[in-house]
Amino acid sequence: SNISEEVTSPPPPGTNKQIPQSIIIGVRKGGTRALLEMLDIHPDVAAAATEVHFFDWDENYSKGLEWYRDLMPYSYPHQITIEKTPGYFTSALAPERIHAMNSSIKLLLILRDPAERVISDYTQVYFNRLENHKPVQAIENLLVRNGALNTRYKAIQRSMYDVHMYNWLRHFSLEQIHIVDGNALIQDPLPELQKVERFLNLPPRIISSNFYFNQTKGFYCIRSDGRERCLHESKGRPHPAVNSTVLQQLRSYLHEHNRTFFRLVKRTFDWQ
Ligand code: A3P
Repeated sequence: SNISEEVTSPPPPGTNKQIPQSIIIGVRKGGTRALLEMLDIHPDVAAAATEVHFFDWDENYSKGLEWYRDLMPYSYPHQITIEKTPGYFTSALAPERIHAMNSSIKLLLILRDPAERVISDYTQVYFNRLENHKPVQAIENLLVRNGALNTRYKAIQRSMYDVHMYNWLRHFSLEQIHIVDGNALIQDPLPELQKVERFLNLPPRIISSNFYFNQTKGFYCIRSDGRERCLHESKGRPHPAVNSTVLQQLRSYLHEHNRTFFRLVKRTFDWQ
Protein backbone atom coordinates (compact mmCIF):
# COMPACT_ATOMS: atom_id res chain seq x y z
CA SER A 1 0.00 0.00 0.00
CA ASN A 2 0.93 3.63 -0.19
CA ILE A 3 1.38 3.81 3.54
CA SER A 4 4.00 1.09 3.76
CA GLU A 5 5.77 2.62 0.77
CA GLU A 6 5.85 5.93 2.58
CA VAL A 7 7.31 4.36 5.67
CA THR A 8 10.08 2.65 3.78
CA SER A 9 10.66 5.34 1.14
CA PRO A 10 14.07 7.00 1.43
CA PRO A 11 14.33 10.53 2.81
CA PRO A 12 14.38 13.38 0.26
CA PRO A 13 17.91 13.91 -1.12
CA GLY A 14 19.85 16.54 0.76
CA THR A 15 17.95 16.11 4.03
CA ASN A 16 18.98 14.63 7.32
CA LYS A 17 17.98 14.58 10.96
CA GLN A 18 19.26 17.46 13.05
CA ILE A 19 19.40 18.05 16.78
CA PRO A 20 16.85 20.83 17.48
CA GLN A 21 18.13 24.40 17.30
CA SER A 22 15.06 25.45 19.24
CA ILE A 23 12.86 23.70 21.82
CA ILE A 24 9.39 24.55 23.09
CA ILE A 25 9.92 23.72 26.77
CA GLY A 26 6.35 24.26 28.00
CA VAL A 27 4.31 25.00 29.85
CA ARG A 28 1.92 22.07 29.86
CA LYS A 29 -1.51 23.37 28.69
CA GLY A 30 0.02 26.69 27.74
CA GLY A 31 -0.76 26.21 24.05
CA THR A 32 2.37 24.26 23.15
CA ARG A 33 0.69 22.22 20.40
CA ALA A 34 -0.84 25.32 18.81
CA LEU A 35 2.54 27.07 18.88
CA LEU A 36 4.38 24.15 17.27
CA GLU A 37 1.73 23.58 14.57
CA MET A 38 1.59 27.27 13.76
CA LEU A 39 5.37 27.56 13.54
CA ASP A 40 5.38 24.53 11.27
CA ILE A 41 3.60 26.69 8.67
CA HIS A 42 6.99 28.32 8.13
CA PRO A 43 8.92 26.72 5.24
CA ASP A 44 12.19 26.91 7.19
CA VAL A 45 10.82 25.02 10.20
CA ALA A 46 10.86 21.24 10.63
CA ALA A 47 8.75 20.20 13.61
CA ALA A 48 9.07 16.90 15.48
CA ALA A 49 5.81 14.95 15.30
CA THR A 50 5.64 13.70 18.88
CA GLU A 51 6.63 14.79 22.37
CA VAL A 52 10.08 13.35 22.85
CA HIS A 53 10.60 13.56 26.64
CA PHE A 54 14.35 13.23 26.23
CA PHE A 55 15.59 15.69 28.84
CA ASP A 56 12.93 15.05 31.50
CA TRP A 57 12.71 11.24 31.50
CA ASP A 58 15.84 9.47 32.75
CA GLU A 59 15.11 6.28 30.82
CA ASN A 60 15.13 8.31 27.57
CA TYR A 61 18.05 10.56 28.47
CA SER A 62 20.20 7.53 29.19
CA LYS A 63 19.70 6.39 25.59
CA GLY A 64 21.92 9.22 24.43
CA LEU A 65 21.93 12.03 21.89
CA GLU A 66 21.85 9.80 18.79
CA TRP A 67 18.61 8.25 20.02
CA TYR A 68 17.24 11.77 20.40
CA ARG A 69 18.41 12.91 16.97
CA ASP A 70 16.86 9.86 15.34
CA LEU A 71 13.41 10.99 16.55
CA MET A 72 13.72 14.27 14.66
CA PRO A 73 12.18 14.81 11.21
CA TYR A 74 14.29 14.89 8.05
CA SER A 75 15.15 18.49 7.28
CA TYR A 76 17.19 20.59 4.85
CA PRO A 77 20.30 22.32 6.16
CA HIS A 78 18.63 25.77 6.03
CA GLN A 79 15.74 24.57 8.19
CA ILE A 80 15.41 24.86 11.95
CA THR A 81 14.37 21.69 13.74
CA ILE A 82 11.99 22.26 16.67
CA GLU A 83 10.63 19.81 19.19
CA LYS A 84 8.16 20.47 21.99
CA THR A 85 7.93 18.64 25.29
CA PRO A 86 5.86 20.62 27.81
CA GLY A 87 7.29 18.63 30.73
CA TYR A 88 10.71 20.23 30.31
CA PHE A 89 9.69 23.54 31.91
CA THR A 90 8.86 21.92 35.26
CA SER A 91 11.66 19.35 35.16
CA ALA A 92 14.49 19.86 37.65
CA LEU A 93 17.13 18.36 35.35
CA ALA A 94 16.05 19.53 31.89
CA PRO A 95 17.76 22.96 32.05
CA GLU A 96 21.26 21.66 32.76
CA ARG A 97 20.86 18.76 30.35
CA ILE A 98 19.75 21.01 27.50
CA HIS A 99 22.56 23.41 28.33
CA ALA A 100 25.06 20.53 28.20
CA MET A 101 23.80 19.66 24.69
CA ASN A 102 23.80 23.18 23.27
CA SER A 103 24.49 26.17 25.48
CA SER A 104 23.33 28.62 22.78
CA ILE A 105 20.02 26.93 21.96
CA LYS A 106 16.94 29.13 21.59
CA LEU A 107 14.20 28.26 24.02
CA LEU A 108 10.51 28.96 23.53
CA LEU A 109 8.20 29.09 26.52
CA ILE A 110 4.47 29.61 26.07
CA LEU A 111 2.58 30.65 29.18
CA ARG A 112 -1.00 31.49 29.93
CA ASP A 113 -2.79 32.74 33.02
CA PRO A 114 -1.55 30.27 35.65
CA ALA A 115 -4.94 29.87 37.37
CA GLU A 116 -6.58 29.10 34.01
CA ARG A 117 -3.72 26.71 33.36
CA VAL A 118 -4.51 24.81 36.57
CA ILE A 119 -8.10 24.31 35.41
CA SER A 120 -6.96 23.27 31.95
CA ASP A 121 -4.50 20.80 33.50
CA TYR A 122 -7.28 19.39 35.70
CA THR A 123 -9.58 19.08 32.65
CA GLN A 124 -6.97 17.12 30.71
CA VAL A 125 -6.38 14.70 33.59
CA TYR A 126 -10.15 14.42 34.14
CA PHE A 127 -10.75 13.28 30.56
CA ASN A 128 -7.74 10.94 30.57
CA ARG A 129 -9.07 9.28 33.72
CA LEU A 130 -12.58 8.96 32.29
CA GLU A 131 -11.14 7.26 29.21
CA ASN A 132 -9.16 4.86 31.38
CA HIS A 133 -12.19 4.13 33.59
CA LYS A 134 -10.51 5.60 36.65
CA PRO A 135 -12.43 7.53 39.31
CA VAL A 136 -12.51 11.31 38.96
CA GLN A 137 -12.88 14.06 41.54
CA ALA A 138 -14.44 17.49 41.50
CA ILE A 139 -11.73 20.11 40.99
CA GLU A 140 -12.55 21.75 44.34
CA ASN A 141 -11.59 18.52 46.17
CA LEU A 142 -8.15 18.64 44.59
CA LEU A 143 -7.63 22.36 45.06
CA VAL A 144 -8.62 22.51 48.72
CA ARG A 145 -7.75 20.25 51.67
CA ASN A 146 -9.19 21.03 55.13
CA GLY A 147 -10.15 24.52 54.00
CA ALA A 148 -6.66 25.47 52.80
CA LEU A 149 -5.34 25.57 49.27
CA ASN A 150 -3.60 22.27 48.53
CA THR A 151 -0.31 23.62 47.25
CA ARG A 152 1.01 20.09 46.83
CA TYR A 153 -1.49 19.48 44.03
CA LYS A 154 0.69 19.01 40.94
CA ALA A 155 -1.43 21.23 38.74
CA ILE A 156 -0.85 24.11 41.18
CA GLN A 157 2.86 23.40 41.42
CA ARG A 158 3.22 23.53 37.64
CA SER A 159 1.63 26.99 37.70
CA MET A 160 4.27 28.40 40.07
CA TYR A 161 6.10 29.82 37.08
CA ASP A 162 8.69 31.66 39.18
CA VAL A 163 9.93 28.47 40.83
CA HIS A 164 10.60 26.78 37.49
CA MET A 165 11.89 29.88 35.74
CA TYR A 166 14.45 30.37 38.46
CA ASN A 167 15.85 26.96 37.64
CA TRP A 168 16.17 27.82 33.91
CA LEU A 169 17.82 31.15 34.62
CA ARG A 170 20.58 29.36 36.51
CA HIS A 171 21.68 27.94 33.14
CA PHE A 172 20.37 30.30 30.45
CA SER A 173 20.22 34.04 30.00
CA LEU A 174 16.87 35.76 29.65
CA GLU A 175 17.77 36.62 26.04
CA GLN A 176 17.82 32.92 25.20
CA ILE A 177 14.28 32.30 26.42
CA HIS A 178 11.47 33.83 24.40
CA ILE A 179 8.15 33.87 26.21
CA VAL A 180 5.07 33.53 24.04
CA ASP A 181 1.90 34.97 25.53
CA GLY A 182 -0.48 32.01 25.33
CA ASN A 183 -3.56 34.13 25.95
CA ALA A 184 -2.54 36.43 23.09
CA LEU A 185 -1.89 33.44 20.81
CA ILE A 186 -5.50 32.33 21.35
CA GLN A 187 -6.92 35.82 20.65
CA ASP A 188 -4.81 36.63 17.60
CA PRO A 189 -2.04 34.20 16.63
CA LEU A 190 -0.16 36.18 13.97
CA PRO A 191 1.53 38.88 16.10
CA GLU A 192 2.85 36.27 18.55
CA LEU A 193 4.19 34.15 15.69
CA GLN A 194 5.87 37.15 14.09
CA LYS A 195 7.72 37.76 17.35
CA VAL A 196 8.87 34.14 17.31
CA GLU A 197 10.06 34.48 13.70
CA ARG A 198 12.20 37.42 14.77
CA PHE A 199 13.54 35.59 17.83
CA LEU A 200 14.55 32.61 15.68
CA ASN A 201 16.01 34.87 12.96
CA LEU A 202 13.62 33.42 10.42
CA PRO A 203 12.51 35.48 7.42
CA PRO A 204 8.88 36.59 7.90
CA ARG A 205 6.79 33.99 6.08
CA ILE A 206 3.73 33.41 8.28
CA ILE A 207 0.88 35.65 7.15
CA SER A 208 -2.67 36.49 8.25
CA SER A 209 -4.27 34.22 5.62
CA ASN A 210 -2.59 31.25 7.35
CA PHE A 211 -5.27 31.59 10.04
CA TYR A 212 -9.03 31.62 10.05
CA PHE A 213 -11.39 31.67 12.99
CA ASN A 214 -13.57 28.56 13.24
CA GLN A 215 -16.85 29.46 14.95
CA THR A 216 -17.67 25.85 15.81
CA LYS A 217 -14.32 25.22 17.45
CA GLY A 218 -14.16 28.68 18.95
CA PHE A 219 -10.46 28.93 18.08
CA TYR A 220 -8.23 29.89 15.20
CA CYS A 221 -7.37 27.10 12.80
CA ILE A 222 -4.57 26.78 10.25
CA ARG A 223 -4.65 27.24 6.48
CA SER A 224 -1.41 26.14 4.86
CA ASP A 225 -0.34 24.36 1.66
CA GLY A 226 -3.95 24.57 0.43
CA ARG A 227 -5.27 22.65 3.45
CA GLU A 228 -7.34 23.80 6.41
CA ARG A 229 -7.07 22.16 9.80
CA CYS A 230 -7.96 22.76 13.41
CA LEU A 231 -6.14 21.29 16.38
CA HIS A 232 -7.31 18.00 17.86
CA GLU A 233 -10.61 18.06 19.77
CA SER A 234 -8.69 17.70 23.05
CA LYS A 235 -7.31 21.21 22.48
CA GLY A 236 -9.74 23.93 23.44
CA ARG A 237 -12.07 21.90 25.63
CA PRO A 238 -14.66 23.62 27.84
CA HIS A 239 -13.54 23.94 31.46
CA PRO A 240 -15.65 23.18 34.54
CA ALA A 241 -17.03 26.12 36.50
CA VAL A 242 -15.00 26.40 39.70
CA ASN A 243 -16.49 27.51 43.02
CA SER A 244 -15.77 31.23 43.16
CA THR A 245 -14.33 31.20 46.70
CA VAL A 246 -11.95 28.39 45.78
CA LEU A 247 -10.98 30.15 42.56
CA GLN A 248 -10.27 33.30 44.56
CA GLN A 249 -8.07 31.29 46.94
CA LEU A 250 -6.14 29.89 43.98
CA ARG A 251 -5.75 33.28 42.33
CA SER A 252 -4.56 35.06 45.44
CA TYR A 253 -2.02 32.31 46.14
CA LEU A 254 -0.63 32.47 42.61
CA HIS A 255 -0.55 36.27 42.68
CA GLU A 256 2.70 36.35 44.68
CA HIS A 257 4.30 33.74 42.44
CA ASN A 258 3.30 35.81 39.43
CA ARG A 259 4.87 38.95 40.85
CA THR A 260 8.14 37.12 41.48
CA PHE A 261 7.97 35.71 37.97
CA PHE A 262 7.47 39.19 36.45
CA ARG A 263 10.55 40.41 38.30
CA LEU A 264 12.59 37.44 37.09
CA VAL A 265 11.67 37.92 33.42
CA LYS A 266 11.50 41.74 33.54
CA ARG A 267 8.07 41.68 31.94
CA THR A 268 4.47 41.61 33.10
CA PHE A 269 1.40 39.77 31.84
CA ASP A 270 -2.21 40.69 32.44
CA TRP A 271 -3.08 37.57 34.36
CA GLN A 272 -5.95 38.32 36.75
P1 A3P B 1 -7.74 24.16 26.77
O1 A3P B 1 -8.05 22.88 26.08
O2 A3P B 1 -7.74 24.06 28.23
O3 A3P B 1 -8.57 25.32 26.28
P2 A3P B 1 -1.20 22.37 25.10
O4 A3P B 1 -1.13 22.11 23.62
O5 A3P B 1 0.06 22.94 25.65
O6 A3P B 1 -1.71 21.18 25.84
O7 A3P B 1 -2.26 23.55 25.33
C1 A3P B 1 -3.62 23.34 25.10
C2 A3P B 1 -4.29 24.69 25.06
O8 A3P B 1 -3.93 25.38 23.87
C3 A3P B 1 -5.79 24.65 25.04
O9 A3P B 1 -6.23 24.56 26.38
C4 A3P B 1 -6.17 25.95 24.34
O10 A3P B 1 -6.68 26.93 25.20
C5 A3P B 1 -4.84 26.45 23.76
N1 A3P B 1 -4.90 26.88 22.38
C6 A3P B 1 -4.21 27.94 21.90
N2 A3P B 1 -4.47 28.14 20.62
C7 A3P B 1 -5.35 27.16 20.25
C8 A3P B 1 -5.96 26.85 19.01
N3 A3P B 1 -5.75 27.60 17.92
N4 A3P B 1 -6.81 25.78 18.98
C9 A3P B 1 -7.03 25.06 20.10
N5 A3P B 1 -6.45 25.31 21.29
C10 A3P B 1 -5.60 26.36 21.38
